[in-house]
Amino acid sequence: MSRIEVLLGRMTLSEKIGQLTMSAADQAVTGPVLAQGLAADVRSGAVGSVLNLYGSDRVRVMQRLAVEESRLHIPLFFGLDVIHGYRTLFPVPLAEVASFDVALWEQTAREAALEAAREGVDMTFAPMLDVSRDPRWGRTVEGPGEDPVVGCVLARAKVRGFQGAPGALGAAGRAGADLASPGAIAAVAKHFCAYGPVQAGREYASVDISERTVREVHLPPFAAAVDSGVAAVMPAFTDLAGLPMTANREMLQGWLRERLGFTGVIVSDYNAIGELMAHGVARDRSEAAALALLAGVDVDMMADAYRHGLPVALDRGLVRETQIDAAVLRVLALKERLGLFDDPYRRCQGPEPSTALTRRRLLARRAAAQSLVLLTHRGEVLPLRAGVRVALLGPLADASAEMRGCWTAAADEHGSVGVLEALQGALGPDAVAHAPGTGISGADTSGIAAALRACEDADVIVLCLGEAAAMSGEAASRAELQLPGCQRELALAVLARAAELGTPVVALLFSGRPLVVPWLFEQADAVLAAWFPGSEAGAGIADVLTGRLAPSGRLPISWPRSGGQIPIFHAERPSGRPFAANNHYTSRYLDVSNEPQFPFGHGLSYACLEHSNLRVTPTQCGEGDTLQVRVEVRNPGVRAARETLFLFTRDRLASIARPLLELKGWRQIELAGGAQATVELQLAVRELRFLGADLQPRHEAGEVELLVGASADRSRLLSTMVRLI
Ligand code: NOJ
Repeated sequence: MSRIEVLLGRMTLSEKIGQLTMSAADQAVTGPVLAQGLAADVRSGAVGSVLNLYGSDRVRVMQRLAVEESRLHIPLFFGLDVIHGYRTLFPVPLAEVASFDVALWEQTAREAALEAAREGVDMTFAPMLDVSRDPRWGRTVEGPGEDPVVGCVLARAKVRGFQGAPGALGAAGRAGADLASPGAIAAVAKHFCAYGPVQAGREYASVDISERTVREVHLPPFAAAVDSGVAAVMPAFTDLAGLPMTANREMLQGWLRERLGFTGVIVSDYNAIGELMAHGVARDRSEAAALALLAGVDVDMMADAYRHGLPVALDRGLVRETQIDAAVLRVLALKERLGLFDDPYRRCQGPEPSTALTRRRLLARRAAAQSLVLLTHRGEVLPLRAGVRVALLGPLADASAEMRGCWTAAADEHGSVGVLEALQGALGPDAVAHAPGTGISGADTSGIAAALRACEDADVIVLCLGEAAAMSGEAASRAELQLPGCQRELALAVLARAAELGTPVVALLFSGRPLVVPWLFEQADAVLAAWFPGSEAGAGIADVLTGRLAPSGRLPISWPRSGGQIPIFHAERPSGRPFAANNHYTSRYLDVSNEPQFPFGHGLSYACLEHSNLRVTPTQCGEGDTLQVRVEVRNPGVRAARETLFLFTRDRLASIARPLLELKGWRQIELAGGAQATVELQLAVRELRFLGADLQPRHEAGEVELLVGASADRSRLLSTMVRLI
């Protein structure tokens, strides 16, 4: 018998249920209720894991109670939402995804793990893999954006980053075998599954989508996470067609465990087992506990439903003790994999050498710069010339706490570099005149006059507009995606004054989602999506504004021109009556174009690269072949640029209508001014399979179009055909 089986044999029922119970400390508040009497519960073995407690001293104290004062001395594990950094914050996930730099995605997860692990964190509730095509949903900011392929690549990179060195393979041939190393933490793929399409974008609302969409769009990122050896999975709060994920046996046991072969731990979301009663599928805590356990949920986060409900469920015959045992073994196996039985304090090593911090801040600065997306750029306003005088306006110009974004983990409120500080550093303190003009929200317009005065002596106006960090993330859906408060009034006044003065305006949009501001795109000389760039926000922004680095971010989500277009995404299916300008009875709105403001993949740089000569070999291929796709890229400008080339396909004739564009991958390339290169992408023909009418993968003979270019704007994609046999 293994060590953990012996242990299981010695456990009382309440100790077993204790291992399945996760309680929250109050260092971070991430849910509606807080646990009482945590220390006493740890001593009595009533709690097996803790969330929202961090810092090596605090963790040591709590761990000591478990390993020295509880009867069986079983160590706790400690979980925290280390979503986009721990003390050092990287850009919010959607922003970092915009870099399309897979190595960067992995590196930031690695650095976050190293930083958090030193302070007692064993598990992060990340990566968040929910594909979102509805930016009203506030949690869009936490995930991969609209495309499942991006979600898959992100899943692999993040699991590798959090859990261990790339390429380290475990017994099952999966990455993350060195989870016991003190710098690795367990990743939790969340929220399984299809949380993104909540009704009307409203947080925690019901989800009712086709099984095909679940399988084609929402499951693949989780399959990739499982394939990468992710240690744990968290079910979504939401239901799928009436069956809450926390009680969804078909999805958790059927898909996750049986079909995907997931053997790790399933951790409920915060109070989600208790919420099965509010969903209307459980009468009381014992029924809720039984439903969750039978569905495959091992750990009850903060509902106390297992603690109070499972003993009753056992008495009522709703569950068997062997089912509890199986869950306990999975939890103990994770503790073993984390190395906690050998050294329960292994992740409590305390402060790092300062060189580590310097390295991490530099990475955060590069990540911040790479996540910026230059949405519009007219004339030659950017990069800013040396010696330029700037009027820095808007409520987000000097807002370092907001720069942190939605999940701040252990980051200091004052630890982020704001735009004002960084631009003063880059251009000189006297070169920047600052006036906020208005607050982020509220109706006070009294500062607008001062903002207009600041424009008088400026060569360029930089307008920092957007949302507060708390306006996206969990419980932060918005029905109207406009600028909050009276920022529009400020912006219009500044744009009008700038037009009179002949002064160019650069707008920085801080937000966790696309904002619907077509008027700004029309009137400003340049607009950058800055999202929330993290600890080095201002420095990364200054690097791009001054031309130290060229903008290279690309939109991971289509940017709507009207809220009424939502959901809008590149992988839409064709219509039987596709839009035709001269035909009334075609698919369209009467009042707004069908096209997004900016398509998926859009993002400008300071050079405009040219693509030509797309070719593919072989042009006739079977299911086992791999296609080599090549395209020439030329930088006709003088400035270097980083180009992202996306590879899409279009299967025009198939037994099931296929989307207008399907992303298959991307490549990045750095090109100096005047340089040219051949970019190569590979595509396994197996990737062209799709789910047939029976929802089983099928290869169909026929022609498939391959399209390559800088965004999902079809009019600018190069295209060629291959024949599948
Ligand atoms: C609720 C959120 O849905 C989840 O993403 C998070 O990890 C937990 N709270 C824990 O804070």
